[in-house]
Amino acid sequence: MNKGYNGHKLKEMERKGELVMLNVKKVSKIYEGKIAYPALTDIDLTINEGEFVGIMGPSGSGKTTLLNMIATIDEPTTGEIVINGHNPHQLKKEALAKFRRRELGFVFQDFNLLHTLTVEENIVLPLTLDGKKVKEMKQKADDIAEKLGISSIMKKRTYEISGGQAQRAAVARAMIHGPKLLLADEPTGNLDSKSSRDVMEMLEAINKKERTTMMLVTHDAQAASYCNRVVFIRDGKFYSEIHRGDNRQAFFQKIIDTLSLMGGDAHDLSTIRV
Ligand SMILES: Nc1ncnc2c1ncn2[C@@H]1O[C@H](COP(=O)(O)OP(=O)(O)OP(=O)(O)O)[C@@H](O)[C@H]1O
Ligand SMILES: [Mg+2]
Repeated sequence: MNKGYNGHKLKEMERKGELVMLNVKKVSKIYEGKIAYPALTDIDLTINEGEFVGIMGPSGSGKTTLLNMIATIDEPTTGEIVINGHNPHQLKKEALAKFRRRELGFVFQDFNLLHTLTVEENIVLPLTLDGKKVKEMKQKADDIAEKLGISSIMKKRTYEISGGQAQRAAVARAMIHGPKLLLADEPTGNLDSKSSRDVMEMLEAINKKERTTMMLVTHDAQAASYCNRVVFIRDGKFYSEIHRGDNRQAFFQKIIDTLSLMGGDAHDLSTIRV
């Protein structure tokens, strides 16, 4: 079984001038409760600038736990997380809020759009928080909407658009301030296969054009096949990783094979799309 990037490999990458965007070092998470539960144990993960990495594993394997710690929604019990040279968990509240707004973008399964607002108002929301001028915000929103093919729905309310359009609007909102690292937890979880494909193609295009580093947690092998690399975790531990190469269809098959090797549960199998 191949291991995650070790120290040696890390030094090698630094020599080659590849920038490390995310470095998860020996991270463990224990949920305290009546019975302490070790959700993650000694996770090492390095993601270089411009990479698009998928995280897969059976339900309960710790994927969301890992993503939430990187998103600074939760803290590791032990270990360290460094994003673009900073450990966000060491920042004070205000600096952390700024860091999250400037460096990170988030996309979730249930879109998290505000229903009383239009698509456009949702998209500019992160800029409102930064106190940007209205004209500048509108220009940015128009630019990104055009890129993502949602210009025609900008004035609609979120209940007037499809799930696929809602997720594209959510991606636009996550991208409007040009984040360094985009974090997505099951972004295709509520979408049919056509919309799912549209959203993944869009993420792939953003990753290629803007070189935004992306980390995607998913059950969906079809969605994961758009990544450059997929890391598998099981029972809170690193299991294996595979790289895409040129052929997405072959990569999809490799993902399916790894999933069936590692075993899973009915929920995982029911969401595999061909
Ligand atoms: N806040 C919490 N308190 C206690 N235990 C938790 C908490 N959040 C998650 N867990 C437990 O930690 C383990 C990992 O959960 P996590 O949500 O990270 O899994 P996952 O891989 O994202 O699963 P799924 O694919 O179902 O979304 C699970 O056993 C879960 O029950
Ligand atoms: Mg999860």
